[in-house]
Formats: sequence, structure tokens, C-alpha cells
Amino acid sequence: MSCPNRSPAADPQRRKFLVSWLRWGGALLAGCLAWPLTRFLAFRVTPKPRYVTIAAPLPLSGYHAERDFFLFVTPDGPLAVSRKCTHLGCRVNYLEDKKIIECPCHQSRFTPAGKRISGPAKKDLTLYAVATRTDEEGRTRDYVVTL
Ligand code: FES
Repeated sequence: MSCPNRSPAADPQRRKFLVSWLRWGGALLAGCLAWPLTRFLAFRVTPKPRYVTIAAPLPLSGYHAERDFFLFVTPDGPLAVSRKCTHLGCRVNYLEDKKIIECPCHQSRFTPAGKRISGPAKKDLTLYAVATRTDEEGRTRDYVVTL
């Protein structure tokens, strides 16, 4: 039963108004729920840096091989080169006789400084930061590689 004071034409307008407010309210509610969900899904924890200490001096071969990197000591300073191939991620090897780094999977080749020479890999190997620590007499005590 309709209200006696209202005209019959007012009901459709009122219904339209309510539906409009429900739509806007629903959109606002969806936005309020989607924002934290989006932030949760997009949140990334940056990994903590890992420090690897290598005692000096290096072997006579002039380099040190770790699981994740090679450490070369050059006249320009120490150089830590990733062992992860930039093609598909295989672990690369250092060929001492040829003085190159080679990937056993598809034979990408790199210089000891990590520069790409040939092969399917398109990028150079990643370089890591190396800090040289000295003793009180100024001799190199060890190298700290930050991964
Ligand atoms: S994974 Fe190293 S060349 Fe393909």
C-alpha cells in the first residue's frame, strides 16, 4: 500500500535514487576491500644481503671459486662475478687455460670480468660488490663479497 501523501510518480524516482546510492556504496565498499588486498598481494620483502668473507691471499691461480661467484683479484682491484649464466641460469665454470668463463649448458662465454663474448646469453654476468679489509700494517686481510 502506497503512502497517501505521495504521488504515484515519486516511487520510481525514489527507487532510482536508492539504486544509484547502492551502486555507489557497493563500488566504494569494493574499493575499500580491494585496496588492502592489492597491497597485500603486491608486497615484496627485499632479501637481506648476504656477506661472504674470503681470506687473503687468494691461491696462486689468482681466483677463488665459490658456489655463487668467482673472486678475481686484478690490478684494478677485486672482482666478484656471478656464476649464474644470464641465458637460462646454469652454473658457469672458469677455464683457467683459456682464461674465460664458460657455461656448460649452451657454451656461452664470458671474460673473467663477466663481459659476454659469445653464445646464446645476451647479457653480461652479474658483478657483486667487494670490500677489501686490511690489517693494521696495510696488508689485505680478506675480501667481503656482498651478494
Ligand atoms: S644456460 Fe648458459 S648458455 Fe644457456
